[in-house]
Amino acid sequence: MSKHDKDTSTSKPKAGDVPLTGKVVLIGSGVIGRNWAVLFARGGFDVVLYDIKKNEQLEEAMKDIKESKLRLLEQYNMLGKNGSTKDLLDRISVSTNLKDALCNAIFVQEGVPENVTLKQNVFEEVDKLLYELSQTKKGDMATKQQWNALYRVLLPPLFHRSSAAIE
Ligand SMILES: NC(=O)c1ccc[n+]([C@@H]2O[C@H](COP(=O)([O-])OP(=O)(O)OC[C@H]3O[C@@H](n4cnc5c(N)ncnc54)[C@H](O)[C@@H]3O)[C@@H](O)[C@H]2O)c1
Repeated sequence: MSKHDKDTSTSKPKAGDVPLTGKVVLIGSGVIGRNWAVLFARGGFDVVLYDIKKNEQLEEAMKDIKESKLRLLEQYNMLGKNGSTKDLLDRISVSTNLKDALCNAIFVQEGVPENVTLKQNVFEEVDKLLYELSQTKKGDMATKQQWNALYRVLLPPLFHRSSAAIE
């Protein structure tokens, strides 16, 4: 049984359990979401950006990432060791369907506006969808791993200090 197949339904993952490759889902593609997208891509992860405003917002986010953020990293020789501007850009995609985005995710992070009710609703929705995915065979690594991902849902402010860990 591989690390990804283990039964995590009864225990939360321990520190160090997080895989070093895989798909990261960012919910909200505003100031914070798009910056984290670049950071995770720079760290070698595949990234899916999801936003409630769907196409218009996501297009703007990708334009900003491509024409501003990645360009700046390249200009200051800060792309890191995991590839070129194109490599990083290729790792970032968008989705207008949250359930599809969450399928086979190894990590989920929300970056929606600072509103408790809104954040609670997002967590509830992610909880529901991860549970549904955990009950299906959709995707290669579905089932228990989806449930596992639930325990890695974090709020951006709590996560700032961890940025060095994914570089
Ligand atoms: N901007 C900062 O400097 C900063 C710094 C630290 C922490 N934060 C925190 O990060 C979070 C996000 O802040 P931001 O500045 O990126 O906000 P933002 O307004 O720039 O972006 C929020 C995005 O979330 C999207 N959104 C709203 N509801 C959604 C939903 N239900 N599902 C999916 N997407 C949804 C919006 O369409 C928008 O694109 C907030 O909690 C904020 O307090 C922000």
